[in-house]
Amino acid sequence: AAVSSLPEESRRKLGPEAVYLEEIASASTRMNRLVENLLDMARISSGGFTLKKEWCDVKDLVDAALRDTEKELKGRELRITVPSNLPLVRIDFPLVQQALTNLLLNAGMHTPPATPVELTVEEDRSRGQLCIRVADRGPGLGSKNEGQLFDKFYRGSGAPPGGTGLGLSIVKGVVEAHGGKVEAASRPEGGAVFSLFFPLERAPEAVASAKVSL
Ligand SMILES: Nc1ncnc2c1ncn2[C@@H]1O[C@H](COP(=O)(O)OP(=O)(O)OP(=O)(O)O)[C@@H](O)[C@H]1O
Ligand SMILES: [Mg+2]
Repeated sequence: AAVSSLPEESRRKLGPEAVYLEEIASASTRMNRLVENLLDMARISSGGFTLKKEWCDVKDLVDAALRDTEKELKGRELRITVPSNLPLVRIDFPLVQQALTNLLLNAGMHTPPATPVELTVEEDRSRGQLCIRVADRGPGLGSKNEGQLFDKFYRGSGAPPGGTGLGLSIVKGVVEAHGGKVEAASRPEGGAVFSLFFPLERAPEAVASAKVSL
């Protein structure tokens, strides 16, 4: 990361070497992601992993995932919708961050460079769930079905080299470990949309005040 964020001045001083340093940095980011995905997958499929759940502000989660993918989504129009009155969610922050990052990376990797990416968070009170959606204006999902997409190691025929096809299987594993579910669809207007649903639990304040009123 130290190398990837070379300030303009050092980049000028370094001249052509800066290009190599940036390339090394981005290769090491890709390598880190790959290893992280492999480790997450190993943990999820071993079944013996426990979530480290904590009460989180979804806004922090969105910010963290956007920071993770800043480079890959550079130059994109980002439409971020996070309502200000969302309840806290009890989740394993780093794992859900990883899931959201994987969706944003997909929106960056599998769509044309100049197309917009949308990230929307919604509370569905009647169902008691929180929905996080990542939508794009890329080629959509064609005839690929959800089963395929979320399969371990599945990659579309047009997928650029460098990936392993683990991204979406981790997304599914993480969300289901939280008792939630995932959905993938093509948008009627073009593009793909991935939705993550997390069950909402009663926030600590609500629990505390409920106890008091007993
Ligand atoms: N936003 C999207 N638009 C169109 N196709 C997508 C999108 N996201 C995923 N896909 C398709 O689903 C396949 C599986 O996605 P997944 O994230 O699991 O793997 P990957 O992105 O190919 O590789 P990795 O995530 O390991 O780097 C992709 O290869 C691609 O064909
Ligand atoms: Mg991916």
